[in-house]
Amino acid sequence: MNILILNGPNLNRLGRREPGIYGHQTMDECMEALRARYAGHTLQYFQSNSEGALIDRLYQADDEGTDGIVFNAGAYTHTSVSLHDAIRAIGVPVIEVHISNVHTREPFRHHSFISPACRGVICGFGMDSYRLAVEALIEAERA
Ligand code: DQA
Repeated sequence: MNILILNGPNLNRLGRREPGIYGHQTMDECMEALRARYAGHTLQYFQSNSEGALIDRLYQADDEGTDGIVFNAGAYTHTSVSLHDAIRAIGVPVIEVHISNVHTREPFRHHSFISPACRGVICGFGMDSYRLAVEALIEAERA
């Protein structure tokens, strides 16, 4: 499968950003572990702090025939109708991912604009949330 891991704002700082919440692993380390574990699959990675760039990347993935997207939209999760619309507009299944359990955090993190447009949601398993989402996409393809 060709899977895109897509990260939104502030996730370029993983490893350094609030390690008490997000841990010490960098996204480079996470991608290296994922690529080693799922060597039979192609795992692409893209991160942007800009909403428009994330929307453009979703459409690019659709145009390229990407099989699935693992999407941590960061804080845009809680604000973005345009990301919701873009996910709905593409034919690629999207799994929403969060490193932290957003439901145990501030009330403004409890609502996701993108969940209704996504195939499923995984949150609260630290960086392992990304692996669980990749696993879910691969299993769904097999079923
Ligand atoms: C996050 C949770 C969001 O509320 C926050 O804005 C993030 C990261 C997570 O992975 O836990 O940037 O998506």
